Amino acid sequence: NDRVTPLVLQKMKGNTKIVSLTAYTSSMASLVDPHVELIIVGDSVGMVAYGQASTLGVSLETMINHGAAVVRGANRACVIIDMPFGSYQESPQQAFRNASRVLSRTGAQGVKLEGGAEMLATTQFLVERGIPVMAHIGLTPQHVNRLGGFKAQARTAESTAQLRDVAVAFAQHGAFALLVEAISEPAAARITAAVNIPVIGIGASPACDGQVLVTEDILGLFSDYSPRFVKRYAELSPLISTACAQFAMEVRQGSFPTSAHCFTMLEQPME
Ligand code: KIV
Ligand code: NA
Repeated sequence: NDRVTPLVLQKMKGNTKIVSLTAYTSSMASLVDPHVELIIVGDSVGMVAYGQASTLGVSLETMINHGAAVVRGANRACVIIDMPFGSYQESPQQAFRNASRVLSRTGAQGVKLEGGAEMLATTQFLVERGIPVMAHIGLTPQHVNRLGGFKAQARTAESTAQLRDVAVAFAQHGAFALLVEAISEPAAARITAAVNIPVIGIGASPACDGQVLVTEDILGLFSDYSPRFVKRYAELSPLISTACAQFAMEVRQGSFPTSAHCFTMLEQPME
């Protein structure tokens, strides 16, 4: 088994860009797997697959079910699963209880959690007990109610210095990687230079060690909300609409199914 590990990702820093995409299902994971080193099972599943307005309504059970599906579908990429809102913020003990369930029930290699300095002790607690942690900083969607919307972060000298300090502290507390979301390019450059762990960016400029996007976003399969940092590499929604329309038309006309899609009797029909 030559699955990419958090250690392998760390060795890529400074040498090769790390490529990452999200997946929520086995089928998408197997399509994405040959092209990336890292698959993130994001709590964006709540918005993209469940039609929720934020990521706050996603349960641990939901992350475990989707995480297990993704691990079954991917055999090469490192799989990291988001800890959902409310499953880790209370205490390091709560975080360990839930993160250990995520790993033991899915076979994923680590978890991602959102936050700032308040998550440092929890990060260290998990790492010391065997759970690789990716720290998600910058725009942290689980804080949407406090941030007052999905807004880019670290766009002033002061907030950039603060975020850089938080990034350095996460590295010191054992995080194996950072995910930086929606931050200014100077902030991303300073953070990437300041830490010896990989920095994966989403909306965070090419200064990062790697890039991630939500797969449904790059495929044009999710348009409820489209941040500035998304680039669409395909427009699959019209293709799906056309296929559904064609199927509906053929069923109504009686041109589907044909004999090619039907089963015959194994014996001569009775007279
Ligand atoms: O939930 C999500 O999709 C994420 C991405 C930034 C990876 O956290
Ligand atoms: Na997320």
